[in-house]
Amino acid sequence: MGKIILTGDRPTGKLHLGHYIGSLHRRVQLQNAGDYDRMFIFMADVQALTDNADNPEKIRQNIIEVALDYLSAGLDPAKCTLYIQSCIPELAELTTYLMNLVSVSRVQRNPTVKTEIKMRNFEANIPLGFFCYPVSQAADIAAFKATTVPAGEDQSPMIELTRELVNRFNSTYAPVLVEPDIMLPENATARRLPGTDGKEKMSKSLGNCIYLSDDRDTVWTKVKSMYTDPTHLNVSDPGHVEGNAVFTYLDAFSTDDDFAEFWPEFHNLDELKAAYTAGGIGDMKCKKMLNSVLDKLLSPIRARRHEFEQDIPEIYNILRKGSEAAREAAAQTMDEVRRAMRINYFDDAELIRQQSERFKQ
Ligand code: TRP
Repeated sequence: MGKIILTGDRPTGKLHLGHYIGSLHRRVQLQNAGDYDRMFIFMADVQALTDNADNPEKIRQNIIEVALDYLSAGLDPAKCTLYIQSCIPELAELTTYLMNLVSVSRVQRNPTVKTEIKMRNFEANIPLGFFCYPVSQAADIAAFKATTVPAGEDQSPMIELTRELVNRFNSTYAPVLVEPDIMLPENATARRLPGTDGKEKMSKSLGNCIYLSDDRDTVWTKVKSMYTDPTHLNVSDPGHVEGNAVFTYLDAFSTDDDFAEFWPEFHNLDELKAAYTAGGIGDMKCKKMLNSVLDKLLSPIRARRHEFEQDIPEIYNILRKGSEAAREAAAQTMDEVRRAMRINYFDDAELIRQQSERFKQ
């Protein structure tokens, strides 16, 4: 059995630095390392619709944004299959069968769904489709026999449920589906990048994001306004790096080479941190450093995005071809699923023979 990576994003907005450090960068590395037999990356528009049913236009607009973000960050359609969830109707079919193998109370226990229900004020009135999305997510994964799902900690309950459903399916019918493992981000900063306001998470709804598609001026404006250390009033004051968003970002994005290039007074971030903590380093200088680091990271992404933007029909073409390829893989699994459940009536010569015997008497 091959090693198969699968992961995706809800296309509800442009991708930002939090996505980049938390997942996108890793995906590009995994893609280029070539240790996996196949890699599927998709836009979970069906899932996004479970809490945006009245606003499909939002999803429609963001498919292309996310596709451009994927491609400009370095995902390569020659190496990974990029597709749109709703283009794979097999996923809806598998969801239907998996729903019979789990109880309402089991789905209700999912902590991620519980938090989301609160956040969306769904308590009194949960859309059934939203409630069932963890089962649909299990189908997203199982339909491709994915072995490895790179995702954040918040997705652990989904992967756990997927494993349970796969086991339930395999023991009830026949061992066809594959239990996936979650692949968590490597370090703490990759797990959760704070917003530019220092709040715990970079998130569109908090308005504290630096987007991969932001232009140079926009990034500089955002970096200039970043939260640092409220007790660091004068340059000579001792500063704190803990909880200081500029330093959290430098932790996440800067390298020793960046120091040689942009701030040779220091060999590395540790030296800068020591100097800042002792006092005598202004926030503005640190922000300029961060801006240079981010610009070095984002410039090539921006340049690639600009190129891809010149031929938008081709982007849709890439997604269409990816969706066709993904559909083939899912259809193959669904043939096996139906055979395992013995509902593949027309391919079942034995069934047809038995039934003709039965009615002959
Ligand atoms: N739930 C994921 C998110 O909110 C998106 C998603 C849908 C996903 N299906 C998936 C992620 C399957 C990994 C595997 O971002």
